[in-house]
Amino acid sequence: MKVLGIESSCDETGVALYDTERGLLGHAVHTQVAMHEAYGGVVPELASRDHIRRLIPLLENVLAQAHCGRGEIDAIAYTAGPGLAGALLVGASFAEALAMALDVPALPVHHLEGHLLSPLLADEAPAYPFIALLVSGGHTQLMRVTRVGDYQLLGESLDDAAGEAFDKTAKLLGLGYPGGPALAKLAEAGTPGRFKLPRPMLNSGDLSFSFSGLKTAVLTAARTRNLSEADKADLAAEFQEAVTEVLTAKAVAACRQHRLSSLVVAGGVGANRRLRQGMDAALAKIGGRVYYPALELCTDNGAMIAYCGAQRLLQSAAAQGSGAFAVRPRWPLAELSLG
Ligand code: KG4
Ligand code: ZN
Repeated sequence: MKVLGIESSCDETGVALYDTERGLLGHAVHTQVAMHEAYGGVVPELASRDHIRRLIPLLENVLAQAHCGRGEIDAIAYTAGPGLAGALLVGASFAEALAMALDVPALPVHHLEGHLLSPLLADEAPAYPFIALLVSGGHTQLMRVTRVGDYQLLGESLDDAAGEAFDKTAKLLGLGYPGGPALAKLAEAGTPGRFKLPRPMLNSGDLSFSFSGLKTAVLTAARTRNLSEADKADLAAEFQEAVTEVLTAKAVAACRQHRLSSLVVAGGVGANRRLRQGMDAALAKIGGRVYYPALELCTDNGAMIAYCGAQRLLQSAAAQGSGAFAVRPRWPLAELSLG
């Protein structure tokens, strides 16, 4: 079965074709970073309009990579939420219209479920059940994943998500948008420990997170002195260290509490090299192992949506193109169940 995946929830347009027998046949992403850069963040209306422009060329590109014609598509999965309402509607209406034209089922997919299952696209995939740490721009959540569609929320951020904290801190240090990768790059030139930042909720005894105080601590450090380039690099390194330490400690605690040794780390912040080092070392200490998606599949893409849609279709034949659809800009992952 060949499933086309469409992702358009924020500032990346992603299209991919996943075959349940042969794996990923093709995938392409267009990032809108250059377009939003001048504004210092994502402008929703510009994002929607750009998704419209990109979808058909990306589809042609993916079909060419896969050596497939449109007639070979068996189903279309698309991100129906959470995300920017207008951006979601572009992908949803494109997917539903194409499905209707091809007379194949269309399937709404939860964006975070896509991230959550993305490590299963790798050659060495974890077996169920496992603990998943979702670290994206909008969410920081620890979940117990029993099987596709069965997710138990164990803890989440009470304020900013880790990615959001990376982005806001980067802005404070005068780095551009998107801040996460820029801050990570700056951190490579710095030394953690020279500045002391808090490890919020490290010893809270639960699996909740809080990252907004960390950003404020960076702001305070920046206000009390004129930061040199070397100071900024050291602050960035300490910030990255603090986030890594907290995320790692809570992920290990979740594994211990649930007696599970497989941990999945997914979402944009999962691309962070220091975080990956920290997680690998911590899981190795408890005899566990960390599974990540390929680096290019950490941030938003169509492959994770196609894969997620395919898994759902394999589990239930419920998806039918009805011609009616809706998107959910706010959509808690824990509300998901198998249809
Ligand atoms: O998963 P994602 O692409 O989008 C959402 O679903 O939100 O994650 C984007 C987030 C942004 O906050 C971005 O700054 C962060 O992931 N990010 C990183 C890195 N690459 C992306 N944060 C830290 N280090 C990175 N290397
Ligand atoms: Zn995402």
